[in-house]
Amino acid sequence: MTAAPAALRVEGLHAGYHGGLVLHGVGLHVEAGTVQALVGRNGAGKTTLIHTIAGLLRPYSGMVEIGGVDLAGKPAHRVARAGVGLVPQGRRVFPSLTVAEHLRLAAAGRGRDPMWTVERVLELLPRLGERLDHRGDQLSGGEQQMLAIGRALLTQPRLLLLDEPTEGLALDLAARVRGLLTGLAEAGLSMLLVEQRLDHAIEVADRIAVLDYGRVVFDAPTAQVRADPTTVQSMLSIDQPLPQGS
Ligand SMILES: Nc1ncnc2c1ncn2[C@@H]1O[C@H](COP(=O)(O)OP(=O)(O)O)[C@@H](O)[C@H]1O
Ligand SMILES: [Mg+2]
Repeated sequence: MTAAPAALRVEGLHAGYHGGLVLHGVGLHVEAGTVQALVGRNGAGKTTLIHTIAGLLRPYSGMVEIGGVDLAGKPAHRVARAGVGLVPQGRRVFPSLTVAEHLRLAAAGRGRDPMWTVERVLELLPRLGERLDHRGDQLSGGEQQMLAIGRALLTQPRLLLLDEPTEGLALDLAARVRGLLTGLAEAGLSMLLVEQRLDHAIEVADRIAVLDYGRVVFDAPTAQVRADPTTVQSMLSIDQPLPQGS
C-alpha cells in the first residue's frame, strides 16, 4: 500500500517582492488529514508563504506540491481548482455584498454533488443563516470570520489555508472559531493554520512549525511542544501566554 500523497509539500521555496527575498528556502509539509500550524513573529513571512502557496504570489524558485501535483507559480484559480481553499488574513469580506451573495458566488460552478453546499455551511455556521441579508460591512468581526470560512468551504477544499483566523476577535469568539476548526479537522480536512498565539495553535494542530526571517526553524509534533513550550516560546515574541496546564 502506498501512503496518500501529502496534502501539501513545500520545498526550497524562495519568494518575495520586487526581487527582494522574504522566504529563504522554506520547506513545510501538511500530511493528509492533519493540521499543521505555523507560528512566527510579525513580518516573519507567514502571509507571504500563504500567498505563494495559494498562487497569489509567484515564487522565484522551489516546489509547491498539492496532493502530489506541483503547482508552484500557477495562478490562484488553478491552485483553487486543485483543492486549495484560502481564508485570508483580515478576512477580506466584500463590504457591499450580502452574506447570501458571498455564499452564492463561492458556490458557483462547483459541479455536481459538492461536499459543501450552502445548506451544509449554514448548518455548520447557523449565525450566517440569521444574517443572510446583511452586507459585509454590517457584520461583526466574528461574523465576517465565519463568512470567510464558509466561503472557503464552498470552494470544496482538500487543503484549507487559514491566515490568523482569530486575529482581532473577542476571546469567546476566537475560542468558537478554534472549536469550529477542530471539528473540521476531526472530519478529516487538511489545514495549514497560521496562528499568532502558540497556546491556540497547540489546541488545534497536530504539528507546529516556526517561521523566522523566512526560514522554518522548528517543526515538531504538538505533543512535543506541549511538553516543552518554552523552546518555541523563545523563538516568538516576548510576551506569549503559556499554554494551560504547563
Ligand atoms: N506586498 C508587499 N510588498 C513588499 N513587501 C511586502 C509585501 N507584503 C509583505 N511584505 C514584506 O514581507 C515581509 C513579510 O511579511 P508577511 O509575509 O506579511 O509577514 P507575516 O505574515 O509573518 O507577518 C515583511 O518585511 C513585509 O514588510
Ligand atoms: Mg501575516
